[in-house]
Amino acid sequence: MTTLLTDCTGNAMTGATAKDATAYDAALREFNSYMNDPVATIDTALAVNPDFIMGHVLKAELMISAWERSVVADVRAIRDTLLPMVDRATDRECGHIAAIDAWAAGDWRGYQSALDRVLIDNPRDLLALQAGHLSDFYHGDRDNLRGRVARALPAWSEQDPSYGHILGMQAFGLEECGDYARAEDTGRHALTLVPADGWAQHAVAHVMEMQARQPEAVAFMEDAADLWGRPGNALAVHNWWHTALFHLDQDQITGALKIYDSGVRPGSSEIQLEVIDAVAFLWRMHLRGLDVGDRWTELAALYTRSDEPGFYAFNDMHAMMAFAATGDRDGARRVLQATTAQATGTGTNADMSRRVGLAVVNGIDAFGRGVYAEAVEHLMPVRYAAHAFGGSHAQRDIIHRTVIEAALRAGQPHLATAMLQERVAIKRDCPFSWSWLARARSAEKNGGQKAA
Ligand SMILES: [Fe+2]
Repeated sequence: MTTLLTDCTGNAMTGATAKDATAYDAALREFNSYMNDPVATIDTALAVNPDFIMGHVLKAELMISAWERSVVADVRAIRDTLLPMVDRATDRECGHIAAIDAWAAGDWRGYQSALDRVLIDNPRDLLALQAGHLSDFYHGDRDNLRGRVARALPAWSEQDPSYGHILGMQAFGLEECGDYARAEDTGRHALTLVPADGWAQHAVAHVMEMQARQPEAVAFMEDAADLWGRPGNALAVHNWWHTALFHLDQDQITGALKIYDSGVRPGSSEIQLEVIDAVAFLWRMHLRGLDVGDRWTELAALYTRSDEPGFYAFNDMHAMMAFAATGDRDGARRVLQATTAQATGTGTNADMSRRVGLAVVNGIDAFGRGVYAEAVEHLMPVRYAAHAFGGSHAQRDIIHRTVIEAALRAGQPHLATAMLQERVAIKRDCPFSWSWLARARSAEKNGGQKAA
């Protein structure tokens, strides 16, 4: 019996040469730190050895982690390469292949749970851990964001070079579960081990967002931007987005826009994860009636030529925002049709669209048409159910913001005041939330006149 070579954390890899294992470890390290182009790195091995199963697996799961339609054809092609290899694959590799097969068929929950089983049997499978962690994020599955990492963590120690990255994942899971003190401690511990870990930095930023610690958060992010914001870091745009929000909620509008131009939208990326950050920032400005110049134009044009609508309900919400903000009725109708069609289909996104996505795109569309009472009707029932279409609490806050502003503009200041009371009770130090509450109370005193 041939002894299989292993990856850097001890997992056997069928068909791997020593060079393949080196390339795999290098690509995995890039994935762990969200640096450079791990697909290109693993491609160097696959070009020489097309029988390297975990090379194909890694490539597929890297692509899947973008969670957008543009990768589906490539993922399916890799799935087709992998399925005939199952007979000579290890159980662990078969688990990964089953996960990829599920995702390629639109069964995202199947992908999520298959990777969970792989990790339970192989807790030192760092690919299964990180790819699974990201799938938990795309499902808005806060319990598993925390639980998946917790189940694997006893198999790791501080002597492992990847330990800091794993703590960064744990910190994010703890934060999404509302365990802010432990999340911050864990994230800061991770940063002592890997100071440039953008995911750990991001987890602590989330804690500060949820606790409305904006001034401290700006310093925390900007003082370390040389580390997490290095060229080639795939999380840099998202971390700049968080930083821009910290400025925005302190009414530092010029500073926020400057970060938008330099960090959130420095180019014309069509990566959905980056596009939605741009949209999510501009929509917060839009809700406040703040001038953003012509910044919406290129985003609406991007969505007009994109076939992404109807792939992932969370992204559909953002596409609709671009069309609602620009008054593009054709674009809005296209998103509505795409999400509606999804809601009648099968697969995980169909479920997400039925449960949340369709109500949200209808609500945003109504807001864009100025029919604010209708926006409230669509958004109120799903604002606390929206985790079902993924993202983080901080990202989904945009739904709460939209429904509050819609209530104010619909001449329902009592409702807006109630929701803002709730908001300041949670975010006691958020200056913007307090000023918004004052505006709602003023509208109430004016007898419910529609607020401008
Ligand atoms: Fe985030």
